[in-house]
Amino acid sequence: MTEGKRARSAFICYSFASEGSSGVAETLVVRNISDTALWAAYFRAEETKRPDALFRDPYAERLEDGKGTEIARTIPEGQSHAWAWVTRTYLFDQFIRAEIEAGADLVVNCAAGLDARPYRMELPGNLQWVELDLPEILAYKQERLSAEKPRCVLERIAVDLSKVGERREVFASLAPRGKRAVVLTEGLLIYLAAEDVASLALDLAAVPCFERWIFDIHSPRLLKMMQKNTGKALDKAGVPFRFAPAEGPGFFGLHGWDTVQAQGLLRVAARFGRPPFFLRLLARLPEGSAPPWERRPWSGVCVIEKRRTPRRG
Ligand SMILES: C[S@@+](CC[C@H](N)C(=O)[O-])C[C@H]1O[C@@H](n2cnc3c(N)ncnc32)[C@H](O)[C@@H]1O
Repeated sequence: MTEGKRARSAFICYSFASEGSSGVAETLVVRNISDTALWAAYFRAEETKRPDALFRDPYAERLEDGKGTEIARTIPEGQSHAWAWVTRTYLFDQFIRAEIEAGADLVVNCAAGLDARPYRMELPGNLQWVELDLPEILAYKQERLSAEKPRCVLERIAVDLSKVGERREVFASLAPRGKRAVVLTEGLLIYLAAEDVASLALDLAAVPCFERWIFDIHSPRLLKMMQKNTGKALDKAGVPFRFAPAEGPGFFGLHGWDTVQAQGLLRVAARFGRPPFFLRLLARLPEGSAPPWERRPWSGVCVIEKRRTPRRG
């Protein structure tokens, strides 16, 4: 199998209706992978309504437009883990800010979905921000936000990231755009097969200015739990949960990257009193002193850096 074909087969496949056990086609509330972006926007909209919000995204409600709410209310446990969703966003915000303060001049948001950071965050006006995603969701977002002004230089590029040739072309076109780029994949990797994450990691590492990469990660045990409930509904739409490397962020050590940060969601969320009581108790267990590249968060957000030095993990 060629590299391109392999990536296509294991990446996302799209379906709008499935045959239920009755043999009759059901209408799916999650029709395809891009609908998960509506679901994510729902959590940002809900968070924004809270007086103690960890971030405010005034665009999220317009972007999820009731469709994200419907997904959250319909799929099993679709609303249950709001604390994890919003802590993920909170940590991405923190890490992005730190990267910009440290000199990042280009943000490449792969699978940007309905993320509105270029509009809602305080950003340098000359920062370049590029959003990559599938054409349909980007067109929807463009239409919804057409009257709004981003706070930095924003561009959207429609690309199917599962198509190796297509994504390499886009990545190469971005190479001259910055001296120090940070790549984001928020809510993407879990939907990919490990071999596709590895191939994406190598392609990102090949772009000279792509220096850091921020992503979220899940542990194999958590993945199993997710597959048993919410995952069943997503399977029907051809969007299964897949990626949760046993090595934790160390997985990326095999593919050209070193771990700089690996922050578990639970401990951060517990600081804000967000998880349910029994999980807050778990968050009190000692963290241990493992270096970031040896950590294996139950679920977390990681920052990795392209390797320049001898291998660490
Ligand atoms: C869970 S959403 C996350 C969106 C956004 N990053 C966020 O956190 O709100 C997953 C996103 O991945 C995008 N995606 C999945 N497969 C893709 C592919 N092959 N090429 C481009 N985008 C893809 C979807 O369209 C969707 O917007």
